[in-house]
Amino acid sequence: MHSTHKRILVTAALPYANGVIHLGHLAGCYLPADIYVRYQRLRRQEVLFICGSDEHGVAITISAEKERTTPRDIIDRFHALNKEAFERFGMSFDNYSRTSLPVHHETSREFFLDLLEKGFLVTKEEDQFYDPESKMFLPDRYVEGTCPNCSYDKARGDQCDNCGKYYNQLELKQPKSLISGKSPTVRKTKHWYFRLGAFQDRLEAYIAERSPEWKENVLQQTRSWLREGLQDRAVTRDLTWGIPVPVDGAEGKVIYVWLEAVLGYISSTKEWAQRTGQPERWKEYWKDPATRYIAFLGKDNIVFHTIVFPAELMAAGGYILPDNVPANEFYNLEGQKFSKSRGHTIDLIDVLKRYPADYFRYTIAANLPENKDADFYWKEFQARTNNELADIFGNFVNRTVTFAAKNFGNAVPPAGALDDRDRAMLETVRTAPAAVGGLIDQFRFKDAALETMNVARAANKYFNDSEPWKTLKTDRERCGTTLNICLNVVRSLALLFAPVTPFTSERIWRILNMPRPLSDEWWDDAGISALPAGHVLGAAEILFTKIEDAVIEQELAKLAPPAPETAAAAASYAPLKPVIAYDDFAKVDLRTATIIAAEPVPKSKKLLRLQVDLGFEQRQIVAGIAEKTAPEQLVGKSIIIVANLAPAKLMGVESNGMLLATAADGENFALLTTSATVQTGIGIK
Ligand code: 2FM
Ligand code: ZN
Repeated sequence: MHSTHKRILVTAALPYANGVIHLGHLAGCYLPADIYVRYQRLRRQEVLFICGSDEHGVAITISAEKERTTPRDIIDRFHALNKEAFERFGMSFDNYSRTSLPVHHETSREFFLDLLEKGFLVTKEEDQFYDPESKMFLPDRYVEGTCPNCSYDKARGDQCDNCGKYYNQLELKQPKSLISGKSPTVRKTKHWYFRLGAFQDRLEAYIAERSPEWKENVLQQTRSWLREGLQDRAVTRDLTWGIPVPVDGAEGKVIYVWLEAVLGYISSTKEWAQRTGQPERWKEYWKDPATRYIAFLGKDNIVFHTIVFPAELMAAGGYILPDNVPANEFYNLEGQKFSKSRGHTIDLIDVLKRYPADYFRYTIAANLPENKDADFYWKEFQARTNNELADIFGNFVNRTVTFAAKNFGNAVPPAGALDDRDRAMLETVRTAPAAVGGLIDQFRFKDAALETMNVARAANKYFNDSEPWKTLKTDRERCGTTLNICLNVVRSLALLFAPVTPFTSERIWRILNMPRPLSDEWWDDAGISALPAGHVLGAAEILFTKIEDAVIEQELAKLAPPAPETAAAAASYAPLKPVIAYDDFAKVDLRTATIIAAEPVPKSKKLLRLQVDLGFEQRQIVAGIAEKTAPEQLVGKSIIIVANLAPAKLMGVESNGMLLATAADGENFALLTTSATVQTGIGIK
């Protein structure tokens, strides 16, 4: 069962550029999307595959604060990392954009102003937590407190992780700002609300029309929102990082990340159109009703794509809506959620240097969390690689090609008369493109991968049952027929496996010495015998290397959870900062210095004014250590300072440098000192 469309737009959720993607994301959204796209390309559908980094939102600011760096630094780093991870994994995006680009800011402003003009945005003044110390309103994720429902004391601003209840920020008991640690005050703030309710009827009609094709999990979440009745939703936030609200009097406010992130698909398409020299072509994908639009995303993104995004597109008018949103369930690791902080994760870039991407692609595809949660297990990875990829698919390809090299001059022998076994094999291959393709068309990627492996299994059995090593001696024509069929099936398998294991298919293409690139082939031609007798083959290669038990044990050991005490202790350490080059370190001029005077800075609880001697000069440094140590105790100490830090004023007092001390508070405070016999003013490396 094939379905054919004029043009297909495929988007995959834009990952936040504040962390690295892991196998869970790949299984939830990206691998299925890539399988779908690769298949559609082979079917010669006009398909465009769009993705990019989601670079705004509180998650990014929080990461930046944790690492004491800027949001820009965070997004640049993780955009590059995720782009690389996707490439290594074989994601075949036509464009991988970033929501920090001008084209996206422009698109988002246009949508926002259009909503405003059409009356779909209303302003409301509401009370919100305000942190007087850091002088900012606190978005939900910046507040922690006691749950009004279950009294859990680490409840987030708008939701309790313990009992799952959603509430209004202001209902939180004993609220605490995560920025200053202090309890926030309440202040009025103005926000723009999207009148989602205005789209209730149209959204219901839209869902009803598309629902026959949609997955149950996607419909459930969507219908439950619709049943509750769509409410106005705040679509602006009091934050500095993001897309400024393009309205007078909205200083210090940005557009809510979810409202604009989904528009990132459109801006990424615009970027693609510009980059390929046809700037208007993005409209074919977004505005032509003949285009079919499939949005791939994970379970936690569903309603934003089935309700909020369609409402935005309806409001703007002239846009097509997602035809399907085939979201998967969650994918865990060895029975537990992926967690970077607990070390329960797999570093994708690292692991893809050690194992070919196709091993992961096949393992994940064969066990996708399509209808229920699933897990990545290292032992399953080993078993699928060894027993299926290597023993079935790889073995069949290898034995066929080496047999032809050895006995038929490395060329395709002619086929003679066919027997029943030959015909059955050819029939399996003939029907495979429609069988596998039909499953992919229905977003049943797991079944498609398993069905493809079944074709390889049948082929391997065909080789065994035909016993060409015997007929070689008894009936050379029969033997040639077997090999002719096997070689043609190798070609068919390369095509059928191309969506799931694209790197391997390319290798087979070279092994078979195919004259034109695989990407120029037709999917349906996987069903025919296209290799002519006499075609000369390339050099054989082993496609898959089996993975030893010891290697898997090593991988599992890396996941071993630390003892509970150590885990708690580890959580109290700040995460390691990213690796820097020696040159970056060498820019810091560290010197020994002697404190010659110390006194409190008036009106400051924290600051001390120090005079330090560097041997060649004396200077003033202001340090925030008044609560930790008495000024008298400092005089005469040999310390270490950063001597080339740009001067700064702290409470109006000039500071020329910084002294080194442990960053920890309370008991763990220590000033870094050197032995007094060391000369003052010398450099430290
Ligand atoms: O969950 C996430 O990682 C979000 N950044 C997904 C956004 S999808 C779309 F809005 F771009
Ligand atoms: Zn609770």
